[in-house]
Amino acid sequence: MNEYHVSVLLKESIENLNILPGGKYVDLTFGAGGHSRSILHNLSAKGHLYAFDQDADAVVNALVDERFTLIEANFRYLRRFLRLEGVKKVDGILADLGVSSHQLDMPERGFSYRFDAPLDMRMNTQADLTAAVLLQSYSEEKLVYVLSSYGEVRNAKTLAKALVNAGKVAEIRTTFDLNRVLDQHVLGPRLKYFSQVYQALRMEVNDEIGALKDMLTEGYEVLKPGGRFVVITFHSIEDRVVKNFFKTGNFDGEMEKDEFGNISRPFVLINKKVIMAENKEQRENARSRSAKLRIAEKV
Ligand SMILES: C[S@@+](CC[C@H](N)C(=O)[O-])C[C@H]1O[C@@H](n2cnc3c(N)ncnc32)[C@H](O)[C@@H]1O
Repeated sequence: MNEYHVSVLLKESIENLNILPGGKYVDLTFGAGGHSRSILHNLSAKGHLYAFDQDADAVVNALVDERFTLIEANFRYLRRFLRLEGVKKVDGILADLGVSSHQLDMPERGFSYRFDAPLDMRMNTQADLTAAVLLQSYSEEKLVYVLSSYGEVRNAKTLAKALVNAGKVAEIRTTFDLNRVLDQHVLGPRLKYFSQVYQALRMEVNDEIGALKDMLTEGYEVLKPGGRFVVITFHSIEDRVVKNFFKTGNFDGEMEKDEFGNISRPFVLINKKVIMAENKEQRENARSRSAKLRIAEKV
């Protein structure tokens, strides 16, 4: 893997994990290992870090350290995979969601409109659903949902119809096949429009919102009381899911009350206002501009 993935909100996220030197920690999104290295730096010989990534390219980067274990799996199953390692409870969990710069920069992965490549977009290349298969198999209605909710594509209906029709004439197999259809329907700045569509397809291919919800639910179960959950998101829906879950323990954001009318809060919110990258970081790393950090401590 190239070394050019610059970790986002590194200082803020690691400081807020409140690392106990001898504790057990989880980095759910190993990527190029930037956050993991920093966690290890704060651990003593007794501490341990379990990292997850579902992308075999990231796994190649595993750190050589007795205090480190890399698990090649989807983080939505984190509880089960930790159990396989003999771990039931942990002291802190960190997730830095989305794709890495490496994934975007490898043409053959099909994540980027910049390179002509098979339209793939799977983080786990063993999974069945590629973006090309999605475009062949999804109904117009389903595509409208994906494009509008994950990409906020303003002409989602027109584009979904065009994609379904284009697929009937010739399959959309590559990024450039897709780009040709997009070029006929661009609304607003071209690159912004392309980014929105590619992001929407990627989030659906990898079921990113479904995986996030499962991960938060299982993460809560494995976290010790007093342990910190630190999550960096890059999309408004992701941020809303995390915000609601941290506030209420569910995804619709409704406070749950017990039989006496007392509100049960699963977490103490460490930051009520979301933390964004400082201007300097935003200038130096474009990825950080949409990053939002939330931290919660289990009650
Ligand atoms: C933004 S990068 C993480 C970068 C990392 N924090 C660093 O400093 O290098 C996100 C990584 O999480 C992985 N990932 C995303 N969703 C995942 C999931 N559901 N299960 C496991 N890994 C996932 C991606 O494959 C990618 O390598």
